[in-house]
Amino acid sequence: MTTLVLGLNGSPRREGNSEFLLREALRGAASKGASIVQVDLAFMDVSPCRACDACFSDGRCSLRDDMDQLYGLMEKADAIIIASPIYFSGMSSHTKTVVDRCQALWARRNVLKEARAPGDGAIILVAAQPNAKFDNALSELRAFLIGIGVRPTEKMTLGGLDRKGMVADMPASLERAFDIGRSLVPDINASP
Ligand SMILES: Cc1cc2nc3c(=O)[nH]c(=O)nc-3n(C[C@H](O)[C@H](O)[C@H](O)COP(=O)(O)O)c2cc1C
Repeated sequence: MTTLVLGLNGSPRREGNSEFLLREALRGAASKGASIVQVDLAFMDVSPCRACDACFSDGRCSLRDDMDQLYGLMEKADAIIIASPIYFSGMSSHTKTVVDRCQALWARRNVLKEARAPGDGAIILVAAQPNAKFDNALSELRAFLIGIGVRPTEKMTLGGLDRKGMVADMPASLERAFDIGRSLVPDINASP
């Protein structure tokens, strides 16, 4: 069966640095035969989690918005790549809003014991400062992936990226992102 790799873009800048690296990662996954889907979180209609705990009873969120489609994709994906800019030393608010809404997926796994098939995950973070701090976002996104049953196996952090899309002129970084995408897809054609 074809591997599905889901890419979540947490930047509100079209053709921003997060998106360029995410696209390369998805291209890498596609180069090994995976189906790929990119979702631009900043352009979705997603309300913040209200902590109503409804998902603890049946795994369903009580809110009706674009998360309805994303939950299904996230459960189906064999691998998930999250790309976000650093905003005030954390992930973007667009990313965090979706992360919190995945409390429903956390509840399915950890409260209702409906485990999803295990998958692999990658985290890509970009920031303007050359010595930017990535620890907060990395720690939160790792906890998130583990919480929904995805192993965070790869990460890429890149500072010094201020201007929109400037990473497009950095071939070594694009190549690293491409390789991350490839590494998420099992080599089903490998000889025994
Ligand atoms: C609201 C806001 C907060 C930011 N905070 C930080 C920060 O704390 N550290 C940093 O190095 N860059 C910060 N940046 C810069 C972005 O991380 C940087 O421009 C990044 O390349 C944007 O990625 P994108 O092109 O994918 O949107 C901030 C940008 C914005 C808009």
